[in-house]
Amino acid sequence: MLQGKSILLIIGGGIAAYKCLDLIRRLRERGASVTPVLTRAGAEFVTPLSVSALCERKVFQDLFDLTDEAEMGHIQLSRSADLVLVAPATADLMAKMAQGLANDLASTLLLATDTPVMIAPAMNVRMWDHPATQRNLATLKADGVTVIGPNEGGMACGEFGAGRMAEPLEIVAAVDAQFADGPLKGKRILVTSGPTHEPIDPVRYIANRSSGAQGTGIAKALRDLGAEVVFVTGPASVPPPDGVQVIAVESAQQMHDAVMAALPVDAGVFAAAVADWRVKAQSSQKIKKTREGLPTLEFAENPDILATVSRLTKNRPPLVVGFAAETEDVVALATAKRGRKGCDWIVANDVSPATGIMGGSENAVTLITDDGAESWPRMGKDAVARQLADRIARALA
Ligand code: CTP
Repeated sequence: MLQGKSILLIIGGGIAAYKCLDLIRRLRERGASVTPVLTRAGAEFVTPLSVSALCERKVFQDLFDLTDEAEMGHIQLSRSADLVLVAPATADLMAKMAQGLANDLASTLLLATDTPVMIAPAMNVRMWDHPATQRNLATLKADGVTVIGPNEGGMACGEFGAGRMAEPLEIVAAVDAQFADGPLKGKRILVTSGPTHEPIDPVRYIANRSSGAQGTGIAKALRDLGAEVVFVTGPASVPPPDGVQVIAVESAQQMHDAVMAALPVDAGVFAAAVADWRVKAQSSQKIKKTREGLPTLEFAENPDILATVSRLTKNRPPLVVGFAAETEDVVALATAKRGRKGCDWIVANDVSPATGIMGGSENAVTLITDDGAESWPRMGKDAVARQLADRIARALA
């Protein structure tokens, strides 16, 4: 979807600027052209030479560079792109944008542009949490600026928290979604996928046979209909789709936390095979064989992510779709599960070994909604995904 798109990339001054080099490559390998603007502070972190080499274009740096004005005025430059992307967007750049300042090339372009603007903030956690930055963020969102990230994690300054710039592929996914067209354009949809791994000790875990194929297919189909997809995946054996925001987790608890952090969304599709139990007291060291006998594992129940989201009073997605993996009495058990979990739809499938569905490439599902149970013929998991995505598009229309 990025083929032929032109992106004006404003690189602010922060340590995260180094990630822009990769971001440029990722955008360009998908067919976009990138015109770079480097702020004075940005040039302290990445060199104009590396940026222009990767973009195969001149880097614009100075508002009063008369040659540039003769070739292309700043007004024209600001409007020549399909999207203006600011990455990293520093606290200073965000403040300038929110105030409408125009005292250097980057801020002037941002004030003059009539094209959509997306920012990927990056800064120290205290700067991010500061009421001034949060006020500026609210102003920018109200002005129609799309904000991607920041993520939580350790920072170059040694502190931990929200403020890390989104990863290049997450930014690419958001840019992709910006250009997407289709019935789900403007809709943000969460998909959980894959198995979870529940650790026993640092080297062992309990898992299940889910490959993540069905969840991945659904994420692709939703993306292809124009949705912005947040894909929360356990350690699956099929690779995650391109053009979606991927949040990789290991355990059910991590999946629960990632899902909660991703809300609000317009719909949630819970295709993950989440482990129902985790080992209660994980050993911090590898459990050794001893003469005293075999270890005993005690279990604790994991949070039921689907049931939790279905029962939210605030931020409950308008459409919640669960899956039911059953090995007998599929429709009856899945119908009961739909009521128990409180989701709107349930996609039931028979995962008894004879069907070859768990870990296989085909699926035979029954969609259970308020209107009753509708059995679909056995087909490839991608075809099931497309049919389900179509139904979701119709329901959200
Ligand atoms: N699910 C979840 N969190 C869990 C367990 C399951 O979100 N801790 C979701 C799955 O993603 C799926 C649905 O709940 O959408 C049903 O999963 P399934 O394994 O079939 O059901 P269980 O909750 O394990 O119920 P049962 O033990 O009765 O089969």
